[in-house]
Amino acid sequence: MDRLGLTAALEQLAHNMTTEWLSIQFKAMGFSGERLPNDLETALYRIVQEAITNAVRHAHASVVGVLLERIEDKVKVFVEDDGIGIEDDPFSVQDRLGLVGMRERAEMFGGTLTVESSPGKGTAVIVEVPVGHSDSYRR
Ligand SMILES: Nc1ncnc2c1ncn2[C@@H]1O[C@H](COP(=O)(O)OP(=O)(O)O)[C@@H](O)[C@H]1O
Ligand SMILES: [Mg+2]
Repeated sequence: MDRLGLTAALEQLAHNMTTEWLSIQFKAMGFSGERLPNDLETALYRIVQEAITNAVRHAHASVVGVLLERIEDKVKVFVEDDGIGIEDDPFSVQDRLGLVGMRERAEMFGGTLTVESSPGKGTAVIVEVPVGHSDSYRR
């Protein structure tokens, strides 16, 4: 991951977690080879990994879309599935590695994590984290 960079690492993750029954499609927008701070790349990778794991474990989805988007002074990540959706408050599960932990990770970087879901309509996990101008991270 440190070597690959976030975009390539997520591409590989999506590929590796794709199965015969579940297709995981990754897309990055607004990146032109620049890297984000290491600890932020790691945090975003873990969040996406856990969101895909949730889709695999809970959603009964057939497609998961992962979008990583660099917009001005933000990075946004969407992980959307076409599964069964969530009925109850998903943040009520006190799982260190679950949504509560994912939100904590986003908040450590001054960002937010929200979940949009309705039963039968799938689930979207949306992460937004502020980042400085990309030039400051070029190396
Ligand atoms: N993509 C999803 N589709 C359907 N239900 C989900 C999804 N993600 C999370 N959930 C529901 O929200 C709950 C909380 O998720 P999480 O905090 O990751 O805990 P865990 O995966 O350990 O149960 C899950 O138990 C599940 O009921
Ligand atoms: Mg989970």
